[in-house]
Amino acid sequence: MQKDPSCNIQKCQHRNECRPCPIKKVMAFGNPLLDTIIHTTDDTLLLKYDIPVNSQKELNYKEMNQLIAEIEGMEKTVTLGGCSQNFLRAFQWIMNNNCETVIVGSIGNDEVAEKIKVLLNADHVNSKYIVHKTQLTGRTVCIVNGSDRSIVAYVGAAAELPLEDLLAIEDLEDYIKKANYIYIEGFFLPNREESTDHILNICEEHNKIVVANICGVYLCTLCPNALVDLITRADIVIGNVYEYEALGRVMDHQSADSLADYLVKNTKNKICQYGTIVIITRGGENGKCVYGEGKILEFEVTKISDEEFKDTIGAGDAFAAGFLAGLCQNKTLIQCCTMGCYTAGSFIKQIGCKVPKFPPQPVL
Ligand SMILES: Nc1ncnc2c1ncn2[C@@H]1O[C@H](COP(=O)(O)OP(=O)(O)OP(=O)(O)O)[C@@H](O)[C@H]1O
Ligand SMILES: [Mg+2]
Repeated sequence: MQKDPSCNIQKCQHRNECRPCPIKKVMAFGNPLLDTIIHTTDDTLLLKYDIPVNSQKELNYKEMNQLIAEIEGMEKTVTLGGCSQNFLRAFQWIMNNNCETVIVGSIGNDEVAEKIKVLLNADHVNSKYIVHKTQLTGRTVCIVNGSDRSIVAYVGAAAELPLEDLLAIEDLEDYIKKANYIYIEGFFLPNREESTDHILNICEEHNKIVVANICGVYLCTLCPNALVDLITRADIVIGNVYEYEALGRVMDHQSADSLADYLVKNTKNKICQYGTIVIITRGGENGKCVYGEGKILEFEVTKISDEEFKDTIGAGDAFAAGFLAGLCQNKTLIQCCTMGCYTAGSFIKQIGCKVPKFPPQPVL
């Protein structure tokens, strides 16, 4: 039987005895957000709020309120958002709920928070949310125009998780110890460098496999050091090609490929059969999985028909979920990528990052 990657550590004593653990546990650290999605056919809002097409930007409370008021009369869909919430819900779906997931983050004491908890519960994800007394729960507005989706976020309470609050979470270390995988989204880093460092230290102490999602090009300017620290301490790094290119500029690499090659060759990792794994996605185009001593697998993305295509909100998060589900089931890396593409494609067929009503189909 192939070795279970998640129960393996570099100096595993039980090399020949490992068996897949029956229930996989995944713990994520991220920004709990509620998304409002609107579909438009022009650039008016993007121009007015200076929102980069197909990218993300943060707004302050006043700006977000103004935008929410502006879209008041438009047709909209409200769904859960935030990279980790999306990832864990997609993971629950592709795993047929045969897993345990929990997210740690910070919310406000308001209606948006209540709605988030109800929706998260419906998708079988547990939460350990700290309630911030003064800041409001974070939310986003996703502006979809064909295959482009531009996202603006008011992070609010989500950015407030100082080390003392993290330490106050009961059994935090125990939870981390019991998890097979720890997922940290790049959006979790700003203002929480000390907390992230603490989480990574616990992971290192207990040989936990860390999955990092780079999440956004603008983070490479907002918190470059924290992002570099995260991706060089992670075992699996996921991001789109523009994020690697932006991070490459910070780390003196000319291209996404060169950064990926550097990461797999120069970072410590705990997955003995693959080494560090770096996934570069490219929207609807073929992506790459770099691993080991610099081996490269190119994976094909399945086309989605115009009738089925809704929007790509959360596509990268759903890809990460499918990829990890493959690893949990001891699939080969190329099969993990196929599962990632299938999961992403299934979420692209929904408006916003909504768990599909149909059950996952066998794709391998
Ligand atoms: N237009 C598309 N058609 C088919 N599949 C797509 C399309 N766009 C994205 N995907 C799927 O989603 C995966 C991730 O896409 P992408 O590179 O856009 O991630 P991302 O920019 O990180 O997205 P997110 O903002 O959700 O994190 C792709 O590898 C592919 O499997
Ligand atoms: Mg992404």
